[in-house]
Amino acid sequence: MKKISTLGTSNFSHFRHFYIKTMGCQMNDYDSDYLAQLLVNNGFSAVNSPDEADLILINTCTVRAKPEQKAYSFLGRMSSIKKGNPNLIIGMVGCLAQMKGPELLKRFPQLDLVIGPRELGRFQEILEGIDRHSGKIVAINLDLAPPQPAPCKGYFHKRITGHVSIMEGCNNFCSYCIVPYVRGREISRPPDEILAEAKNLLSEGIKEITLLGQNVNSYLWEGEGKKWGFPALLHELGNLNGLLRLRFTTSHPKDLSDDLIHSFHYIKNLCPHIHLPFQAGSNRILKLMKRGYTRESYLELIDKLRRINPDIAITSDVMVGFPGESDKDFELTLDLISHVEFDSLFSFKYSDRKGTSAERMDGKIDEIVKASRLNVLQDLQKKITLKRNKALEGRQLEVLVEGSSKRGGQLTGRTASHKVVNFISNNSQIGSLHTVTIKHSFLNSLWGEIVERKSVPV
Ligand code: SAH
Ligand code: SF4
Ligand code: F3S
Repeated sequence: MKKISTLGTSNFSHFRHFYIKTMGCQMNDYDSDYLAQLLVNNGFSAVNSPDEADLILINTCTVRAKPEQKAYSFLGRMSSIKKGNPNLIIGMVGCLAQMKGPELLKRFPQLDLVIGPRELGRFQEILEGIDRHSGKIVAINLDLAPPQPAPCKGYFHKRITGHVSIMEGCNNFCSYCIVPYVRGREISRPPDEILAEAKNLLSEGIKEITLLGQNVNSYLWEGEGKKWGFPALLHELGNLNGLLRLRFTTSHPKDLSDDLIHSFHYIKNLCPHIHLPFQAGSNRILKLMKRGYTRESYLELIDKLRRINPDIAITSDVMVGFPGESDKDFELTLDLISHVEFDSLFSFKYSDRKGTSAERMDGKIDEIVKASRLNVLQDLQKKITLKRNKALEGRQLEVLVEGSSKRGGQLTGRTASHKVVNFISNNSQIGSLHTVTIKHSFLNSLWGEIVERKSVPV
């Protein structure tokens, strides 16, 4: 941690209102929850608007150019609030903070804190530093371990679903990706810490837990003469009392073991859904991306997953316009999508990230070509998603109720395959499982009629 100067920040020990803006992936949501719990434990309270805050934290993402621009524009808006309130402390945390470091303080004089994701474990210390008027702080050491949880009683009280990080960082260095540079090397958390965190969420009323990691299949913990791989960890978590549903994300195709595939069969509360990014359908592009698998081996994994459970939902990430991507390569991506028929797909235009090997590649694709390829791809996927959703009409599916809408009696929840279902019920409770008959399917949701209550919250 580097203290840059003794100017610019001020003591806020009497005013303790915070506002956190979270951008990026679920790992950032998880990190923001960690920060919020720590702040509450230190006497802060959350406010709904940045205008009311004494401390604003912007948890940023830099995976593509777009989220980076969003972070700067939000920071610009927060800086103008500070002009009217010089005691306000503004911090940029997360992946963009890690990537840009002290340069951010030069570019944005209103900014006080720059904290990378691996430094969050030192946030308590950083808070104390601010209280002692110790000035602007840049904390971007990438070698630190993920923070120990800082549970705050009641924090998750109103939630049904929660996250637990099991590993952080990435060693894969896909040629286009900034994540290994901003999240550091892979590090797995000890199983007892993960189990304790999961039990805490259950004690707060959470019913469904998603395990997080940049590459969960690489989870590995060795200690006390025992070795824990990801399937063993899943097995242990699956046995927790009161856990209705267990999920995980994200898996890398090159590390998806048979053991893990079999987990979908023998762990009963493990949801039949896998997010398995494929990125491209052409072997030439996959090689340039350094993904470590081929189109054929990816398709073989899909077959294995569907042999274990023909109903398993498969979602993925894909990119168009990677350097050198020809029309033929793009056709192969479309062909893979048609062949697999993903339940849904996150699709992106390739975006240069500074310092990655793809940034230095020849054959950059014109933005107009990227945009038109993305359109074609998204049109194809919309048809497939709708077709897969339509195939569920008439089926009875189990739905975990996550919320109610303002309209009378309408509840919303998700199937185990992660599809949104809306239905009417006057005597159902949030947090309980119900069987629902699917009556109508749309692109982004299903509409159903309740059959029966399966279990009630404990
Ligand atoms: N760890 C995950 C991906 C994390 S990033 C995995 O390996 O699958 C989430 C998604 O962002 C990636 O799957 C990829 O599709 C996309 N992405 C990453 N870098 C990108 C870039 N430079 N340009 C466009 N999309 C990118
Ligand atoms: Fe990025 Fe590849 Fe690591 Fe995923 S596996 S985070 S895409 S480098
Ligand atoms: Fe973005 Fe960092 Fe997540 S770059 S996608 S917030 S790991």
